[in-house]
Amino acid sequence: MFIKKLTPTLGAEISEIDLSLPVTNQEKYHLKSLFAEYAVLVFPNQPLTPGQFVRAAEIFGPLMEQQIKKFTLSDYPLVGYNSTKDLPLINGKLQVRGENFHTDHSNDLEPPMATSLVAVEIPSYGGDTQFVDVRKAFDDLSAEMKEKIIKLKSRHVHESSRSPRSFAKLTPEEMAKIPQTIQPLVIEHPETHRPALYLNTGRMEGIVDMQDEAAYALINQLYVHSTQEKYEYRHKWRVGDLVIWDNRAVMHQANADYNPEEFRYLYRIMLKGAPLKGVNI
Ligand code: SIN
Repeated sequence: MFIKKLTPTLGAEISEIDLSLPVTNQEKYHLKSLFAEYAVLVFPNQPLTPGQFVRAAEIFGPLMEQQIKKFTLSDYPLVGYNSTKDLPLINGKLQVRGENFHTDHSNDLEPPMATSLVAVEIPSYGGDTQFVDVRKAFDDLSAEMKEKIIKLKSRHVHESSRSPRSFAKLTPEEMAKIPQTIQPLVIEHPETHRPALYLNTGRMEGIVDMQDEAAYALINQLYVHSTQEKYEYRHKWRVGDLVIWDNRAVMHQANADYNPEEFRYLYRIMLKGAPLKGVNI
């Protein structure tokens, strides 16, 4: 394996490995420790079939069921897809899923610990995925701000009343199964024990025991802080890239800046997570 850092603290590109083949226990251990450290791993030249993608993703842990069943492969129900063909076009702009920084399914009691995509078709321009390091963003907060937020909690719902983006419309049956959960504003990573901001402006319904105006102002302040370019790794997709990210260490955002007549199609897998814990001080 050849490892190249993508930014000083976030993201590593791993080459000279073929993820269509089984990996040894030693390689698995190494990959998992790189994942814990860099939080975003990029594997170029991995044009995997859905079955191979399932096995590759399992290196990092067991897979999680997709919430939105209509965007899954019939032969591989654990493999979803992001396809331009499913996206509404409003005033010439594609309404892509995930177009503001977020962490996946934060309203779930056990949010996916990781999400992974394999690029099958990519437009000639645009459609990058951006990642920001919410561990580093937390580290850089002032001592006063850390003390203020460290014990705060937020209710995460399917779609916040203040959401900056709209979510896939669900059937009443799907809606009935969608959970809502109270999550810490600062979480501790179960393996590295690093604290990280846990934000999802699309799903956060205020802050527990705080007036709405103050709560949303604080959420916005933390969002603006953590989405600064200095915390970012921006991935420009190439066909065959496999990217996996840690939802407990980064937020990510999709971009709708490509020609809607071009096709963008990626397989998508989520890995099972556990209930999130706040930071012990
Ligand atoms: C996502 O799965 O959150 C969207 C990422 C992307 O399609 O760029």
